[in-house]
Amino acid sequence: MRKKIIAGNWKMNMTPSEAKALCETLKPLVAGSSADIVFCVPAIDIVPVVEAVRGTNIRVGGENLYFEDKGAYTGEISADMLKDAGAEYVIIGHSERRGYFAESDADINKKLKKALEKGLNPIVCCGESLEQREQGICFDWIRMQLKIAFDGISKEDAEKVVIAYEPIWAIGTGKTASADQAEEVCAAIRELISELYGAKTAECIRIQYGGSMNAGNCRELLGKPNIDGGLIGGASLKAEFGEIANSGR
Ligand code: PGA
Repeated sequence: MRKKIIAGNWKMNMTPSEAKALCETLKPLVAGSSADIVFCVPAIDIVPVVEAVRGTNIRVGGENLYFEDKGAYTGEISADMLKDAGAEYVIIGHSERRGYFAESDADINKKLKKALEKGLNPIVCCGESLEQREQGICFDWIRMQLKIAFDGISKEDAEKVVIAYEPIWAIGTGKTASADQAEEVCAAIRELISELYGAKTAECIRIQYGGSMNAGNCRELLGKPNIDGGLIGGASLKAEFGEIANSGR
C-alpha cells in the first residue's frame, strides 16, 4: 500500500516572517495526517521553515535546484545548499519553470540525477497544455517528458521519485481535471513506469495529481487508485491545506 504524499508548493509567496506565521497556523492542522506532509517553499524560507516545523510530521522541500555542484551560476541553488539548509525534498520541472524559465526536458533529467545523487527526494512534474489535450497528444507528450526525465536513472533510484501529474490548464485556474481525467493519466504514467522498470517499481512509485486541488475536490481525486497524493499551490497557503492533509484518513 503506497503512503499518500500531500505537498504544498508555495511558489513565490511568503516572506520569511510570513512563512513562520503560516507554519504556526498549519502545524496543528496537519499533525494528525496519515500522509507524508511536505512544504516546498522559496529558497529563502527553507531555513526559517525547517526551524519552525522541527519535531513535527512536516518535511521541507525546495522548489528547484541547479544540476551543477557549485560555481559561477549566479542566482542558482545547489543540492548541497538545499540539504544543508534542512530540505529533504525538491520539486523538479514544474510547468512554471519549464514555461517561464525555459527549462528543457534535458535540464530536468540532469536535475533529477543530481537530486538523487545527493539524497534529496525529487518530485518530478509533468503535464500537458490545453492545446495538447485537445490535439489528443496528452499521453504521448507526458510519456516523452517522463522518458527523458528518467533517462539513465536506475530502477533503485526510480522508486524514490514522486511524479506529479499537473495539467497546465488546471494550475491556478480553479479548473480541476475531473477525478476520472486525472486517474486516467496517472494510470498511464504507472503503465509507462512498468514498461521502463517493471511492475514492482510501478507498484511502489508514488504519483500525485496537481492543479487546483482544494478541500472540496481532494477526496474524490485522492480516492482514485492511481492517485497517491497532491501537489497543491493556492490551497497550500491557507488553513484549507489542513483539510486536504487529513482527507485520506
Ligand atoms: P494550484 O497549483 O494548486 O494553485 O493549481 C498547483 C501547482 O502548480 O503545483
